[in-house]
Amino acid sequence: MSAEDGNYHALLARHDAMRLRRQMLSYGTFPGASSGSGSGTGLRGPAGQPYDGVADQRTIMRNLDLVAPFEELIAHLYQALFTRHPSLRSLFPAEMAFQQAHLARAFWYLLEHLDRPEQITATFTQLGRDHRKLGVRPAQYAAFETALCEALRIRAGEH
Ligand code: HEM
Repeated sequence: MSAEDGNYHALLARHDAMRLRRQMLSYGTFPGASSGSGSGTGLRGPAGQPYDGVADQRTIMRNLDLVAPFEELIAHLYQALFTRHPSLRSLFPAEMAFQQAHLARAFWYLLEHLDRPEQITATFTQLGRDHRKLGVRPAQYAAFETALCEALRIRAGEH
């Protein structure tokens, strides 16, 4: 691909991102209020036992101070991601404040709904579809995960 083609594709991706962001904001990807019970989802934990989101929620909340605030954790995350994968930087807006705030909201949503896995599945399935439209590839999720782990280590140190 020529540099010009590359720029053109980066531009297309940015347009897609902007459109999706407007869409996500307008339908409220992470509505604060929620309802529903955690029963009957059929979700399974690693050893095949029913997934116990409440236990995870308690563990995370108990240890949250080690990595909080999310804004700083997330700043480390993106720094790690872009240092290891500079090509990903062009996918994101120049000014990252909104992006960081939205990711923080996503983290809070996840934490607050761990006891309602079916709601998490619905919300994040939609977010996943939106990311697929942006052209995000499975390998990039792996890079994101590595960057998140790195950020958690920076914040929590040996803990
Ligand atoms: C599980 C991991 C991820 C979560 C929870 C997540 C979450 C989000 C959220 C909440 C938004 C909406 C931001 C907004 O409303 O402005 C967003 C947008 C976006 N995400 Fe992700 N994301 C994840 C992984 C990734 C990965 C791996 C990539 C690609 C490297 C990526 C690329 C983007 C881009 C390009 C946007 C649009 C940015 C813009 O507004 O221009 N995301 N993500």
